Amino acid sequence: MSRFFVGLTGASGHVYAEGLVRALVGAGHGVDLSITSAGRRVLLHERGIDAGERGERLAASLAGWLGEEVARGVRTFESDDVGAPPSSGTAQSGGVVLCPCSMGTAARVAAGFSSNLVERAADVALKEGRTLLIMPRETPLSELHLENLLRLARLGAAILPCAPGFYHHPKGIEELVDHIVGKALDRLGVEHDLSPRWQGLEPPAEPGIERGGDRP
Ligand SMILES: Cc1cc2nc3c(=O)[nH]c(=O)nc-3n(C[C@H](O)[C@H](O)[C@H](O)COP(=O)(O)O)c2cc1C
Repeated sequence: MSRFFVGLTGASGHVYAEGLVRALVGAGHGVDLSITSAGRRVLLHERGIDAGERGERLAASLAGWLGEEVARGVRTFESDDVGAPPSSGTAQSGGVVLCPCSMGTAARVAAGFSSNLVERAADVALKEGRTLLIMPRETPLSELHLENLLRLARLGAAILPCAPGFYHHPKGIEELVDHIVGKALDRLGVEHDLSPRWQGLEPPAEPGIERGGDRP
């Protein structure tokens, strides 16, 4: 069993974090969760979950959000609690995921700001050479966004945009979300069967245009 840190920020796409935390706990792993203050506002707006201003409410709201069984596998930390275990490299971690990751948080992690626990946990992952997944939702991306993401990729982070594919013929939002969560789990080395694996295209029924053989 590993313990993963999942940091939620003020980007859109909290449904991805929800799926990720559920899947990690469902696979028997522990989750440390923190959310920025902008993240709290977006969580309320997108998922109707009122995490309040401080920790008690966040911990209490988890059961309503993720269900009691999943909530039992999650430890919550205030984003200003820079003394919490995820702020130190000595605490073991299976990896850090910023999901969804705002462009503000991406910029601050790229610059080594560590102004809250979410940014510090990512900073620790980089310095310890551990898995760091950055899951942005933003679109379109400015040159500055791309520069920051490139910098993070060069530092060893995996950039995994919340941009689901359609080749598995998703039947709804859940299957779109699962597609992205499955990719995150693959990067974390967590087994899952959330989304079908690509088996290759069917060969064309009719042979296509006849190729020119040895013609130039
Ligand atoms: C409903 C809503 C959706 C947002 N979506 C995004 C987004 O997808 N990406 C982003 O970078 N910022 C987004 N923002 C803006 C961030 O919340 C804002 O930049 C905030 O300062 C980020 O703070 P944080 O990085 O500390 O969480 C959104 C804000 C709101 C209210």
